[in-house]
Amino acid sequence: MLTIRSQFTNHFNYNAALVVKSPGRINLIGEHIDYNHGFVLPAAIDKFIEVAIGKRSDGAIHMVALDLGEAIIVPTHNLAPHATAWVNYIIGVVDQVLNTENNNVSIEINLVSKREDLAAGFDICIQGNIPLGAGLSSSAAVECAVLFALNELYDLSLTKMQMALMAQNAEHKFAGVNCGLMDMFASLHGQKNKAILLDCDSLAFTYYPLALNDYSIVLFDTQIKHALASSEYNTRRLECEQGLKIIQEKYPTVKTFRDISLEQVEDCLAFSINSTNEMKEDKLQDKTTKDNTIKVYQRCKYVVEEIKRVQLAVQDLATGDMQAFGKKMFETHTGLSKLYEVSCPELDFLVESVSNNENVLGARMMGGGFGGCTINIIKKTAVEEITKELSAKYNQAMHKELAMYITSIEDGTHVEEETHLVV
Ligand code: GLA
Repeated sequence: MLTIRSQFTNHFNYNAALVVKSPGRINLIGEHIDYNHGFVLPAAIDKFIEVAIGKRSDGAIHMVALDLGEAIIVPTHNLAPHATAWVNYIIGVVDQVLNTENNNVSIEINLVSKREDLAAGFDICIQGNIPLGAGLSSSAAVECAVLFALNELYDLSLTKMQMALMAQNAEHKFAGVNCGLMDMFASLHGQKNKAILLDCDSLAFTYYPLALNDYSIVLFDTQIKHALASSEYNTRRLECEQGLKIIQEKYPTVKTFRDISLEQVEDCLAFSINSTNEMKEDKLQDKTTKDNTIKVYQRCKYVVEEIKRVQLAVQDLATGDMQAFGKKMFETHTGLSKLYEVSCPELDFLVESVSNNENVLGARMMGGGFGGCTINIIKKTAVEEITKELSAKYNQAMHKELAMYITSIEDGTHVEEETHLVV
């Protein structure tokens, strides 16, 4: 198979200036709380996006998606969201560098000459092996690979955290998903065999060695992606903001979900709901208001519980109590499925099917939800048998093929050195 360097040379008739590799991510625990100022525990994995890049001088960006066999040219001026999805992940980050006033990351790319240099355009080839739509953050990996490559090529002196924030902005503006910071952060900051605890409030982070010993991290891929995923994602964010505002009205010292107790959630949002989710008070008879109140209450309850759960799970990790850690993964799944409502029958089926298996320490849906993968911690010696059984059951119940990936934890975004074959 041709390397990305040779493919670049074939396309553009000159050699790429550099090749950058950026991984996908898993998240051990802490789901849907990056945008709620909680803690997340992601890690970079052995599936990645690669880009090869070289400068142009005519103000155009020539992009080739090798896996899709598509090539698109866009001028660097007046960048705006493009009809072809993958193009947005590239031009979205270019826009962040060229139009710093758009990036609200207070990044001073004040070296005008460097910006002018970038505005002159570049050629880029892109390829990868992160399954699309599987919740492994292929889009963040593209954004990070491209931005990292631009940072090297044009000597922009951006830190990894600045790049993560810019890539997040790009996703908001060009892909229309109001995602949190976790995916980009993890892709850029990953370290081999380490999970990273990110405090999504202060952006401080700590590496935790992942000593899994006899266990493997196994992803089971539902191979489905619901079209509603991104609109539902944005709705969850809004529901959380709504809940936070209601709680802040009564408790003005509350700044973020980090400051909220379960009692306060009950106090402010459950006032009109009894245990069977029926309204106690007649004043909220309007069905829409009723439904919305119940939803906002459930979302906030999950967020507050999950923030606490991650803090406890990290202690399990530090003391090596993987049984306790795994139990919390199952609890997270229940919360995501019942309270946050971002699961789907296929994900629930996969988690439920392994929940009483003594060789599975923990399992839960991972990422945004509505499809994608479950993450499982499974005893190495049992992986083969469990996968075989689960595939058959899944196929029978859901009429779909199950895909599985055993993941290893790898380094984050980096320049790939040119290897010289010695003949
Ligand atoms: C997606 C988003 C992340 C995060 C997860 C859920 O992957 O891009 O920012 O919110 O969903 O934890």
